[in-house]
Amino acid sequence: MKTDRKLSAWRTLSLDRFLLGVPHYPEHVDPAFLERDARRIAAAGFNVVRMGEFAWNLFEPRPGQYDFALFDRAVEVFASHGVSTMMCTPTATPPRWLTHAEPDLLRVTATGAPHRHGSRQHADNTSPRYREHSRRITRIMAEHYRDMPGVIGWQTDNELNTSYSESYSAAAASGFRDFLRERHGSVERLNEAWGGRFWAQDYLDFDHVDPPYPMAPVAANPSHVLDYHRYLAHATAMFQRDQVEILRAVNPDWFITHNIGVIRDIDMRGALANDLDFLSYDVYPLLKDEFQRAGHAWLQAVQLDLVRGAAGNLVVPEQQSGFGSQPGFATVVPEPGEMRRMAYSSIARGVDGLMFFRWRPAHYGAEIYWMGVIDHDDVPRRRYDEAARFAGEVGRMAATILGTTVHMDVGIAGPDFDNEEGLKAYPLGLPGPEEASGPLHRHCYERGIACGFVHPEDEIGRLKLYFVPHWALWEPRWTAPLAAFVEAGGVLVIGARTGAHTPDNHMIASTPPGALRELAGVAVTEFGPLPPPGANALPASHRTPPHLAALPAESSRRRHAIATAGGTVDAGWWYECLAPDQGTETIATWSTRFLAGVPAVTARAVGRGLVVYVGSFLTPELVEMIFPPLFARAGIEPLLRNLPAGVEVTRREAADRQLLFVQNTRSDPVALAGIPRATELVTGARIEGGTLDLEPYGCGVLRPDRTV
Ligand code: GAL
Repeated sequence: MKTDRKLSAWRTLSLDRFLLGVPHYPEHVDPAFLERDARRIAAAGFNVVRMGEFAWNLFEPRPGQYDFALFDRAVEVFASHGVSTMMCTPTATPPRWLTHAEPDLLRVTATGAPHRHGSRQHADNTSPRYREHSRRITRIMAEHYRDMPGVIGWQTDNELNTSYSESYSAAAASGFRDFLRERHGSVERLNEAWGGRFWAQDYLDFDHVDPPYPMAPVAANPSHVLDYHRYLAHATAMFQRDQVEILRAVNPDWFITHNIGVIRDIDMRGALANDLDFLSYDVYPLLKDEFQRAGHAWLQAVQLDLVRGAAGNLVVPEQQSGFGSQPGFATVVPEPGEMRRMAYSSIARGVDGLMFFRWRPAHYGAEIYWMGVIDHDDVPRRRYDEAARFAGEVGRMAATILGTTVHMDVGIAGPDFDNEEGLKAYPLGLPGPEEASGPLHRHCYERGIACGFVHPEDEIGRLKLYFVPHWALWEPRWTAPLAAFVEAGGVLVIGARTGAHTPDNHMIASTPPGALRELAGVAVTEFGPLPPPGANALPASHRTPPHLAALPAESSRRRHAIATAGGTVDAGWWYECLAPDQGTETIATWSTRFLAGVPAVTARAVGRGLVVYVGSFLTPELVEMIFPPLFARAGIEPLLRNLPAGVEVTRREAADRQLLFVQNTRSDPVALAGIPRATELVTGARIEGGTLDLEPYGCGVLRPDRTV
């Protein structure tokens, strides 16, 4: 497998097996445990371990002295039990002797403070000198493991940028200048791109440009900020590219991946993803604060859909198995059955390899309460049993699952680095495009409608309905595929603010939605922020001083609503006044005060399809109001009708087969009705009677007799 295959939400993996396993840390245990670990890992049905990502201090204990004995033995012991190794480059944690000898390798924050040895991800990936060390350790390790059959592939680094992505070091500043030279060609073009005439921000020389410092003393230029984040993503990808080039040259048979964690200055459709055989993603939905509000099952689904939307099927090298904690936080505990359920939910959304984090918890360091598959006392308990049950089941189904992709009827435009970062550079108190599409994604998720993320440069013709969530930065090349999609019968829904900026993050000079004005058949004549849905506050950028908090907020008088013949819903985040062209229909209007009667949502028939423009941001209520008729128009049906609350359904498919994945995310049993005649692959049972019972956190994989 090589990387000549274009990134696509429908890209499959061509691994010859379904990777099942655990990250293992031979450096954290008595070497006497290895043999027993390997036996138990193999007995659980696992075929792979991941190791090495934080062990540079052991691979190179002193400058230029290398020692692979511990890891060689681990690779060999595992291999002797039929368990392969995914090795990692250890650049997330340079040894102290290195940063002591060369303090310039440390990242520097905006206040000028260097990061310190003592946690992790403190080295500066933008530093050419750190890149030299990264190449050196990668080459030494690659050559060492070249002929060891136990090592089947590599993970680069570990969760690049998860903890921190920025750097204001001298190296970062100089790299930024080089990046700008390359991107803009001349300083005149840079001045144009950044609007240098505003606040006297133009430059005579690239050498005079600094990274943008936040609030020094007030807001930095949003075009400057956007280019800085483009640079950070580029520098991250180039740091990784060094390693990928070495690994590929040394052994072209290895697969190479990277485990994305927090998506921070990572362009999942850029060089970082293109250089790899496939993307990987670490699944920790219980870790995220949002889960308190949103539920971790949906959060896991939307995150996986997003990563798959960038580059297709993926691997999960880390999925939370038990209670997790670092000194700064503690997660809730996956209940019995939930670890297996979460793992099936990942596969259901395009995961073709999964490892439970981690084999055994550490006894020291900042993650002693991050539980593993077995416990501190080396006793396998319920998590081991669950992991083994899962691995056994998936091992038996692997050949049927591999080669299938996730079916989508509804596509949300994403992920797009420039649009996420462009908004962050000038946020207006608004959610980013990915977050703003949450209400539509969730609506579909809860009803069993097949929905995911697809970039306009991907095959959007495979979808029935496509939503563009407030992509202010509009590339002219995206318009034609959208028009073709509609001509051919697709329903296109364009969110407010789309097309309002240039790729440099300037406001366009024409009437919004600019490049989409003609296709949408509508003009935006006025716009402004609204309070977030349900919030008794002014738009999010304003804070209410405590002494005023008890008073009825001025904003309660500033709310607005949208109405159709069927009802009225509160609007949130943003309003636009729409002026429809002739032939464009108004399907919802603003219904409050000065906006009363002004078109809020319009629709225009184009070719065999329809273009809908929504002059606001989606809320759950607005989705409920406007999307069901659009689904009907697009011929979209749920994958299973009358899906009970808390049950997930997705379909994976290939030319010759379809697999319906169903997961009960609840702690009580549930019965599904309307099941087609099928074989249930987890148990091998036949379903003839149309119903399927799922135990608490129960999962099923149905192979219907007839494909649709
Ligand atoms: C991941 C990381 C692991 C471990 C885990 C639990 O982000 O890659 O090394 O720290 O989180 O916190």
